[in-house]
Amino acid sequence: MEAFAIEGGKPLSGTLRIHGAKNAALPILAATVLAEGQFEIHDVPHLKDIEVMLKILSEIGAKVSHKEHCVSIDTSQIHETHVPDELMGQMRSSIFLMGPLLARFGEVTISRPGGCAIGERRIDLHLSGLTALGAEYVDAEGYITFRSKSLLGNKIFLTFPSVGATENLMMAAVLAEGTTSICNAAREPEIVDLQNFLNAMGAKVRGAGTDTIVIEGVPKLASVSYRVIPDRIVTGTHLLAVGIAKGHIELHNTVPDHVTALIEMIRGSGVEIKVRHDIMEIKNTSRPHPINRIMTSPYPGFPTDLQAQMMAYLSLANGTSLMKETVFEGRFKHVTELERMGASIYVDLGTAFIRGVDKFYGASVEASDLRAGAALVLAGLAAQGTTCVQQIHHIDRGYERIERQLQQLGASISRINI
Ligand code: EPZ
Repeated sequence: MEAFAIEGGKPLSGTLRIHGAKNAALPILAATVLAEGQFEIHDVPHLKDIEVMLKILSEIGAKVSHKEHCVSIDTSQIHETHVPDELMGQMRSSIFLMGPLLARFGEVTISRPGGCAIGERRIDLHLSGLTALGAEYVDAEGYITFRSKSLLGNKIFLTFPSVGATENLMMAAVLAEGTTSICNAAREPEIVDLQNFLNAMGAKVRGAGTDTIVIEGVPKLASVSYRVIPDRIVTGTHLLAVGIAKGHIELHNTVPDHVTALIEMIRGSGVEIKVRHDIMEIKNTSRPHPINRIMTSPYPGFPTDLQAQMMAYLSLANGTSLMKETVFEGRFKHVTELERMGASIYVDLGTAFIRGVDKFYGASVEASDLRAGAALVLAGLAAQGTTCVQQIHHIDRGYERIERQLQQLGASISRINI
């Protein structure tokens, strides 16, 4: 089994280019199903979740290849509308095939999607949204089959601004007859990237980035070439790595506006960040101040995907911070592992009380999901002694060879077999 061995105590230094966003690439790859032809999607990271998405596309009939961050897809031979069960179970994002397959073929069958152990990961908003577009479904024997002669535009209100449901419904509505409004839509940058991709294909989508997205259905879409946006969560992870391990680095190919909440919090805790165009420079030589209250929330609020990494950062602050997780009910599994490294954290009713300690101590810890795993790696960078992070397949789902990224910044980390 693979693990990361980390020798702590080395401040980071150097320059790193941020790779394309996993959470932009996954819906965009699924959206290629909406048109027949040859696509080229650029700056797609080599990640486990991307691999699974490409396997699904290949299993339903597409021809795919992924070389040096460029994905080529020929969707003209897609014929299958049943997403393979074993692949559905490996990744939550397999649900993104529902909208496109239903829109193009009028039918789709999936089994319940898998995903991280961070909460229930319900799909009711996906199901009710597609039903509102005129599709009918049967949920029996572990399979959900949607059928529709033709999807009809409608007004849909999301009771929660679900990222995945917003994206799935955008992809279903682009070929529907008439106009669809998605109200209380998610506003994440990855939603804007999907809108831009769909419009490049000939769709008529507007409003992404706000809470109301309007889609005018069109009869047909065309294949295109496209480059996905940089990964804001990988960007934030490396900013917090310097906050934790200290040092001075530059991150290139970033979109600073996509991490505004984090930048303000890090600056507020006394660490210097400079921004110029797509370059972010962070320098930290001291212990951060605590942050009284942080609450994760949908974009543009503080992202749940940086909650674990921020907890590791605040565990070394010179005081007590309070952090509430409001998006996923089970996203504190990293607390016990951080405590094994010397952190002092008390959790009650979805809120973590983080009392800053002087240092982390190296320990053997386990990743429970991709961002929790990243937080343990960051803690290991600052720990006294050696840290062994196990179950690192979780981390490989969202970070392209994170050990190489950190080695490039001077960290002493290696991938070992144990
Ligand atoms: C996306 O997941 C991201 N994944 C997640 O990133 C991210 O944490 C999440 O959005 C929130 O920002 C991708 O984009 C591939 P949601 P998604 O639907 O779409 C509830 C990472 O670390 N909900 O916005 O699954 C749900 O239970 C991953 O890269 C319903 O109740 O998130 C959760 O509590 C982890 N019914 C909340 O909404 C539904 O039908 C947020 O879920 C759908 C969701």
